[in-house]
Amino acid sequence: MTAIALMVVLSMAQYASLATTPGPRVIIIGAGMSGISAGKRLSDAGITDLLILEATDHIGGRIHKRNFAGVNVEVGANWVEGVNGGKMNPIWAIVNSTLKLRNFRSDFEYLAQNVYKENGGLYDEEYVQKIIDRANNVEESGEKLSGTLHASGGGDMSILAMQRLYDHQPNGPATPVDMAVDYRKYDFEFAEPPRVTSLQNAVPLPTFSDFGDDVYFVADQRGYESVVYYLAGQYLKSDESSGKIVDPRLKLNKVVSEISYSSAGVTVKTEDNSVYQADYVVVSASLGVLQSDLIQFKPQLPEWKIVAIYQFDMAVYTKISVKFPKKFWPEGKGRQFFLYASSRRGYYVVWQEFEKQYPGANVLLVTVTDEESRRIEQQSDNQTKAEIMEDWRC
Ligand SMILES: Cc1cc2nc3c(=O)[nH]c(=O)nc-3n(C[C@H](O)[C@H](O)[C@H](O)COP(=O)(O)OP(=O)(O)OC[C@H]3O[C@@H](n4cnc5c(N)ncnc54)[C@H](O)[C@@H]3O)c2cc1C
Ligand SMILES: *[C@@H]1O[C@H](CO)[C@@H](O)[C@H](O)[C@H]1NC(C)=O
Ligand SMILES: *[C@@H]1O[C@H](CO)[C@@H](O)[C@H](O)[C@H]1NC(C)=O
Repeated sequence: MTAIALMVVLSMAQYASLATTPGPRVIIIGAGMSGISAGKRLSDAGITDLLILEATDHIGGRIHKRNFAGVNVEVGANWVEGVNGGKMNPIWAIVNSTLKLRNFRSDFEYLAQNVYKENGGLYDEEYVQKIIDRANNVEESGEKLSGTLHASGGGDMSILAMQRLYDHQPNGPATPVDMAVDYRKYDFEFAEPPRVTSLQNAVPLPTFSDFGDDVYFVADQRGYESVVYYLAGQYLKSDESSGKIVDPRLKLNKVVSEISYSSAGVTVKTEDNSVYQADYVVVSASLGVLQSDLIQFKPQLPEWKIVAIYQFDMAVYTKISVKFPKKFWPEGKGRQFFLYASSRRGYYVVWQEFEKQYPGANVLLVTVTDEESRRIEQQSDNQTKAEIMEDWRC
């Protein structure tokens, strides 16, 4: 009896929603930048019968702030990349004009003055500059070569292969400074070494060739995530006073575990056994989620899509914020970024100080990626601290 009554209510509810909002019903999985933007696009096109299912208790995904040492720092995305070029980066318009998030242009022009030796002290500026110039020349040759490759990707190669071609070194950059410069140029951007990064897709990077070469660091206590909240607020109802999204079309803490699809539509199931139906589904979960089979597709996705999903590495990029009792590093113009040139490639290479961004916090940020990320993420914070103290002998 109860089951029958419930079924009637469900179909009535569906009928009512169809009657008031014509057009297809779309489920969006994930409320990060992609999912929230997809919802806005659909809304703008008049498709408003939406349901956004998000696994965590907040929107923003990999754009997220966290309090550290008394300030909000970004644990995910931090820079608007691609500014001051031919086309306006739409994110930049929101950051700098609409929301006026506090931001700082990152200047890597002075790096040659700021490369530290493994056993203390700075490298000679001219020595480093020569290495940077050479790396830039090789990259330029790589850009030209990349432009000649066929759109099919059949002639693509790794960035390392290109470097061998133009630098005539079998293993690519090999001295500590060579490796630090190489790491900052490629790994710091792509989170993976040149050995596995596609020349054709990464050199040049459309972000920079379209929108400009400049990058701006967002350091605003509202967080970079306020860009995602702003976009969500364009079409989802939010509470005037708290700013919280209260729209019933956004459901938090809903971990999608199964998607069944056919020509008749889609059925989406979540871990808490909720079931949702729609005409279409948009999946914006990361590659890492798609590769780990957390979401069962019924039937399985087509072979070509499975191949595309497993062809890529899910890159790992770890930002380590460290607070020190006092400053031991130089500040001022051109000092923001510094490199630690270890003989072990990728070992705590890229550092950033925050004299202007977080004054008085005595915080440094060091970024690690890939294998070093995986190693460091497995060890205790104390161990990581110890490694860092050892490097700076402080
Ligand atoms: C440490 C770090 C630093 C970065 N720095 C920059 C930077 O400086 N500049 C820049 O432009 N980019 C940067 N990026 C990249 C940028 O953050 C991402 O490209 C972007 O945020 C991805 O957005 P997305 O919506 O595609 O994915 P996500 O943000 O991952 O959103 C996907 C959402 O789906 C949800 N989800 C996953 N599985 C399920 C499920 N089964 N059910 C329901 N929901 C699910 C997730 O919880 C998440 O909220 C950085 C990334 C990281 C990790
Ligand atoms: C950012 O906004 C400020 C204030 O409106 C403006 O002066 C500045 O030129 C903008 N920066 C860029 C790079 O567009
Ligand atoms: C880390 O080190 C601190 C001080 O050296 C100590 O008090 C703390 O217990 C350590 N934490 C762990 C998890 O080992």
